[in-house]
Parts: sequence; structure tokens; C-alpha cells
Amino acid sequence: MTIKKIGVVGAGTMGHGIAEVSALANYKVSVVDISWDFLNSAKERIIESLNRFYEKGQIKERPEDVMKRIEFSTSYDVMRDADFVIEAVPEIIELKRKVFETLDNITPSHAFLASNTSSIPISTIAEVTKRKEKVIGMHFFNPPPIMKLVEVVPSKYTSDETINVTIDLAKKMNKIPVRLKVEVPGFVSNRIFLRLMQEACREVESGEASIEEVDSTARNKLKLPMGIFELSDYVGLDVAVDLWNVIVNSGTAEDVKCEMYKRKFEAKELGVKTGKGFYNYPAAGKYKKVDLPITSKVDPARLISLAVNEGAWLIQNGIVSAKDIDRVMIYGFNFPKGLMQMADELGIKNIYNHLVDIYSKGYRAYRPNSLIEELAKSSRGFYD
Ligand code: 3HC
Repeated sequence: MTIKKIGVVGAGTMGHGIAEVSALANYKVSVVDISWDFLNSAKERIIESLNRFYEKGQIKERPEDVMKRIEFSTSYDVMRDADFVIEAVPEIIELKRKVFETLDNITPSHAFLASNTSSIPISTIAEVTKRKEKVIGMHFFNPPPIMKLVEVVPSKYTSDETINVTIDLAKKMNKIPVRLKVEVPGFVSNRIFLRLMQEACREVESGEASIEEVDSTARNKLKLPMGIFELSDYVGLDVAVDLWNVIVNSGTAEDVKCEMYKRKFEAKELGVKTGKGFYNYPAAGKYKKVDLPITSKVDPARLISLAVNEGAWLIQNGIVSAKDIDRVMIYGFNFPKGLMQMADELGIKNIYNHLVDIYSKGYRAYRPNSLIEELAKSSRGFYD
């Protein structure tokens, strides 16, 4: 099946980036959103991003020529001849289901329908369509034009053809696809991200460290591109709280009681998009690297311990391999090396001891996974 036209529903942070990436891969693109305000702002952001690439010689085609392949509309009519549609509307399950119902009615029967959801189960979305086998998760990372990863998430209904077409499309978009064997709430990326946020939050709320100290360790010791709170601000604290709730409410992850994120959300301090979150930014929508202390008492092994425990759970449940977790963190979050490799280097025994220590303080989510326990006791790592 040859894909000629890609539809994108939702022109926000992710949608406009996905449209840009699709046009750069030479596809015709139709972007739909509910208002011209959103569409015009998406257009401006795409042009700005294309200009950056063009000025640096990273793309050869002139931005105005790339833009000729993208049409914007407030009507779903433009989806009538789409071959592959990617939905990127807010993470509200009823809204997503409504969008898929509409797409199912309007797109040709051969069209594949993908969701860029960060945590909603794909099967729940697929069930409103008459083509469940053609519905799949295609999860991009912010900012989509820069981040290489695409998580490919089949539901229990998705056909092999749909999986193969999606993997192929991701490669044509110059992305690195990582396929989950089984659908799991939050996928790999956001389950790990959640665990990093929870430990960061726990350390601050329990008085072990300040926000800046946690982020200093993330950036200066683990060499991550952003601190954990900084990244949360960048992603949006509404998105962060949302994926936190979806994963915890699914019953597949023990919660860590921590209120800071929810409080920020309730105060409508949503991070970069509102100009204020855990840190202050120059203006709404304007990210600037935050200033952090060079040194910090936060132990990097402690900071990643819960995320590593989650990684072990994903491996044990046959969802992905250690290597795929590492690919997710390197290409989806720009980690300098994989999380599981970091764990091996910092010492599994060390990670295990932090988990035991925090678990003993009453945080049940830190109960060491049996794979970690086994590796710690036999002095082995995730890699030989
Ligand atoms: N379009 C084009 N170029 C862009 C761009 C865009 N949208 N955004 C950034 N760039 C370019 C800049 O021009 C700059 O290029 P240069 O190095 O040639 O000058 C380069 O990218 C770096 O950007 P900045 O100098 O502005 O800032 P940083 O050096 O801090 O890098 C970053 C920004 C690439 C975002 C980096 O901080 C990073 O990798 N952060 C981690 C991002 C991350 O983890 N994303 C995943 C979030 S989780 C997610 O999305 C899943 C969801 O479901 C929650």
C-alpha cells in the first residue's frame, strides 16, 4: 500500500511537529483543528522550525516549498483522500474516541488510523471504529522534528500489515521505530518518565533535596539534556499529570504519593506553555535552559532507581528488551546512553539498595522487582 497523503488531527505542540516531519518526508499533509487560531499558530511554528533547519543547511528544500505540501482546515472533509491519519488531540479519552469515530466515517476504507496518545490504551480508541485492525499507536516525542524515536504500539486488534506499514512510515520520516510487543498503559517511554518524575518529586517532598539539586544531578551527573522537573515543564504539567493518572489508574503501577505536580496543575502553572511551572520562562511557549547549581548531593543511582525497577518490570513482562528500553531513552529523550546501561554502570546492587531503603520508608512502588533482586544478588547486570 503506497501512502501519498497523511492527515494530522490536532495542530498543537505535537500535531504541528508531526505535520512538519510528514511534509519533510515528501508526503502531502492535511492538518485539521477546531479553530483558525490554532491552525495559524501551527503554520507559524512549522515555518519557524523549517527556517532553522534551512539556515543551518540541514534541509535543502526551501521552507516555502515544503509548506506547499501542507494544507490546513477546520473541516474533516480534507481527510476524504488520506491514506494514513495521525491523531494528536488533547489526552481526553472521549475526545479521542469521537475523533476516531469521525475519521472512520470519513476516510477511505484502506486508510490506517494512528493515535499519538502518550498513555491511553489503543484498543479503547480502536473499539469505536469498524476497522480495529487498522488502528495503531504512533507515539512521537517533543519536539517531533528533533527527537528520533517513534514508539509503535499495536493493540490486541492491530494487524501485522498495519504494524509493518507504520514501522515503514516511521522510517521514511527518518525516525527510529521501537515496537512494543504488548500494549501497556503509558507504553515504555512514559512509564519510565513517570518513575523519574515520581522519584524526583519524592526526594523534594520528603526534604531530601531541592528541585534544583535533583535537576543538577540529572543534567550534570547523569548528563541528561534536561533536569527531570525541567523536562516536565517542557512537556507540560497537564500532560505529565495526565499520564501519571492514566498509568496509576490502570492498576499496572503502584502510585507514589506526591502532590507537587498536582498542585502546579491546579494552579494552572503548566510549565513552558504558560511561562511558569517548577521554573520561570521568558514568556509563555518560550523555553530557555534553566540555571542550575553545578554540584548536588543527590545520588544519581537513587534518582534513577525507580525507573530502573520499572524497566525490569517491562523486561520481565515480555514488553520490551533492555536494549529497546535503552533505544527509547536515547532516541526519545536524548539520553547520552541507555537507562539500563546507566544502571549497570552505577551498579545494580547500588540501585537495589536504594530501592530497599525507600521501600522500607513505606513507599510500596519501590519494592524491588525480582529480576533486579536476582541480578543484584548474583552481581550481574542487564547486559553481559
Ligand atoms: N525545530 C527545529 N530545530 C529545533 C527545534 C524545532 N522545533 N527545537 C530545537 N531545535 C534545534 C535548535 O535550533 C538547536 O539547534 P543547534 O544545536 O544547531 O543550534 C538544537 O535543536 C538545540 O536546541 P536549543 O539550543 O534551543 O536547546 P537545547 O540545546 O537545550 O536542546 C532539546 C533542546 C533538543 C529539546 C534538548 O533539550 C532535549 O533533547 N531535551 C529532551 C527532550 C525530551 O526528552 N523530549 C521527550 C519528552 S517526552 C515526550 O515527548 C512524550 C510525551 O508523550 C510526554
